[in-house]
Amino acid sequence: MSAVTVVILAAGRGTRMRSATPKLAHDLCGRPLLAWPLEAARAAGAARVVVVVGPDDGLAEAIGARPTAAPADPAPAPPAPPGAPARGEGVELVVQREPLGTADAVASAAALIDRDGVVIVLAGDVPLVEAELLRALGEAHQASGAAATMVTTLLGDPRGYGRVVRDGDGAFVRVVETKVVGDASEAELAIAEVNTGIYAFDGAALLDALGAVGADNAQGERYLPEVLAILRARGALVATLAASDPAVVLGVNDRVGLAAVRVEAQRRIQERHMLAGVTIVQPATTAIDVTVEIGEDSVIEPCTQLLGATRVGRGATVGPHSTLVDALLGERVSVVHSHLVRCEVRDGASVGPFAYLRPDALLREDSKVGTFVEVKNSDIGAGSKVPHLSYIGDTDLGEHSNLGAGSITANYDGTSKHRTTIGARVHGGVDTSFVAPVTVGDDAWTAAGTVVTGDVPPGALAVARARQRNVERYAERRGER
Ligand code: UD1
Ligand code: MG
Repeated sequence: MSAVTVVILAAGRGTRMRSATPKLAHDLCGRPLLAWPLEAARAAGAARVVVVVGPDDGLAEAIGARPTAAPADPAPAPPAPPGAPARGEGVELVVQREPLGTADAVASAAALIDRDGVVIVLAGDVPLVEAELLRALGEAHQASGAAATMVTTLLGDPRGYGRVVRDGDGAFVRVVETKVVGDASEAELAIAEVNTGIYAFDGAALLDALGAVGADNAQGERYLPEVLAILRARGALVATLAASDPAVVLGVNDRVGLAAVRVEAQRRIQERHMLAGVTIVQPATTAIDVTVEIGEDSVIEPCTQLLGATRVGRGATVGPHSTLVDALLGERVSVVHSHLVRCEVRDGASVGPFAYLRPDALLREDSKVGTFVEVKNSDIGAGSKVPHLSYIGDTDLGEHSNLGAGSITANYDGTSKHRTTIGARVHGGVDTSFVAPVTVGDDAWTAAGTVVTGDVPPGALAVARARQRNVERYAERRGER
């Protein structure tokens, strides 16, 4: 694949999504749809990857490439003329001014297609295509000496796909489109072999045939598969490659299609983790983004989502009913019925049930954040525990301290946030409030119900509450006894 250019077609309207977001910017398991074929092209080792986008459709930003309108480099380069490529993160973008069809989309990338090279073209809305298939296509194409090779597959329900028409000898004749009524005959609609929208071409053959593609069809568009019929009519060899896995063609044209593709993408992601030693107790209720890493012997319990840049170490248990977004978990961590966002939980620590870890919460080794506890922007020391009903925000808690039930840090005075600093081996009594900024020394204690407004020296007991007074014979005086 080292000499192969991959062109991904991503312009077009995507109207059936009924969305303000361009179709290929919609999320599929942690990556925009367009990033999927892009990753496959990169993994296959393509020499260059070209993406055809629509004008100002926001897709360049969605895949982290620079928008075409911007100058290619901050260095003094002349402004790019319309249609010229802009480079971003190894991807070259070209703009198709108007969605006039898949052949027109390829034509807008003509300046980047090498006449002497091989070019693989694929649709951006077929996200489950894999590097292996692209490599196999490149190899089969070069081995056969064909001018073009199209990947086909057999579908039980081929509705909407282009059908592959063959002659009496089984040789390829043409592709007939079926998306709208008018292009295909009844007999052609009965064909189960479909065009997957993935092709390899000899650069020169493709470029020379593109100009001959007309728009005399039911959609008034210039269809890319017509290039194959043109090449055949000119006496060139057109080959096909059968894909055994029909999932490669699962296309996303509306949100029903997106859901179907997501089921298949999840199946693949989860299978990869299971084969690598992760137990997933109930795959159907588990969602794991493609970007997530999980260590061996970890167990993912039902109704759990692992999202974004989440990383789980070895031997951890996550779930049931937990959501982790960009969370970093060490080894042997336990998370039960909890919600974690942009936080770190180190080896042996435990979270929940019913905990909420917010951005920049750090739970050090063997610490515990328990039931109905919220932690934000705080460092919980090794072996320390916040077991019940607490809010810990903007706090540094030392090692082996224990904060009682109902511990609250008053970190916000209505204008600014302040930090609470609590030392090592501190015993916080139940219902202690820490009014920040405040510092509690090592080995200190707080009495139950204390509101700590001043610093507590090391080893001291802070008591800050009204003394109890008993009114004797109170009930008798009320005449109740
Ligand atoms: C296309 C094929 C069909 C094949 C199917 C496989 C054509 C005419 N038909 O149909 O034979 O079975 O894919 O999924 O090619 N695009 C552009 N510019 C345009 C039009 C489309 O960039 O002007 C892009 C779209 O963003 C999309 C891809 O090309 O990613 C395919 O276009 P789409 O309209 O979805 O074609 P299909 O009807 O699916
Ligand atoms: Mg499509």
